[in-house]
Amino acid sequence: MASSEDAQAWQVGIWDRKSQNYLQETDKRFRPIHEALLDRSGVGGNQSVLDIGTGTGSVAIAAAHAVGEGGDVTGTDISADMLAVAEGRLVDETNLVFRLGSAEEIPAVDGSFHVVLASLSMMYVIDRAAAAREIARVLRPGGRFVAAVWSGPDDCDIVKFQTAAGAFAPKPPVAGVGPGALADPLPFQAQLLDAGIDTEVETEELGFDYDDFESAWEVLAGVTTASLEPERVEEAKLAVQAAMWPNGEGPRHFRNVTQFIVGNKG
Ligand SMILES: C[S@@+](CC[C@H](N)C(=O)[O-])C[C@H]1O[C@@H](n2cnc3c(N)ncnc32)[C@H](O)[C@@H]1O
Repeated sequence: MASSEDAQAWQVGIWDRKSQNYLQETDKRFRPIHEALLDRSGVGGNQSVLDIGTGTGSVAIAAAHAVGEGGDVTGTDISADMLAVAEGRLVDETNLVFRLGSAEEIPAVDGSFHVVLASLSMMYVIDRAAAAREIARVLRPGGRFVAAVWSGPDDCDIVKFQTAAGAFAPKPPVAGVGPGALADPLPFQAQLLDAGIDTEVETEELGFDYDDFESAWEVLAGVTTASLEPERVEEAKLAVQAAMWPNGEGPRHFRNVTQFIVGNKG
């Protein structure tokens, strides 16, 4: 079992490497999830909003436009490289700042935010109990929390793909972290409730497409399998292609049942 510092450094390394093509390849595919998350958040004029695990910043930027000049948005992430891409997208959003920081140690004072958002980031948080306490700490009384998380591999093709590829990748230094880690959201909901946030889960079937297996492989498995010997990579690709591309080639739709954990601080 790795120390918590080593485990977090491993997680940072993955996202730093993914930052290179995240905006071009992944962000556009996640857009329906960003919109569904924001719809459930009620983010609007003059509010203070936190976006945890902001990545390349799409949710934070949309929130900054929604809250207007009288509001403010903070986007946080553990990956400096993801945040650098997010910063590079800013045009004139003077009400938005990006800050390096983890969900387990949010860089904000108590009661700072009306709304805390987490789009597809809580699955990668190593200490979710600490994150739940931190989210409750930085929310104002009555403040809203909305997180989007994937369901399990039977209902979520992106999780099925990454689980199949992950079976060939080096063993992660911590358990319970990865795309399907919140397929059962109940343990995290219990941690949120302990911290003072009562939530429910709403599910929605969303999806995206890839033109062919090779492009999906590069985006979804390129980083996690980068350290493998070339023969092992080929073996992994054949196995994942057989599991995910039954017709062998061509475009494929990914059906991703997405769960929205929604609640308010008491
Ligand atoms: C799948 S990306 C989602 C990015 C963006 N929110 C979106 O919806 O496109 C997951 C993000 O969570 C970040 N992340 C992982 N663990 C984190 C933690 N403990 N605290 C904050 N961010 C974290 C990663 O660095 C990465 O940018």
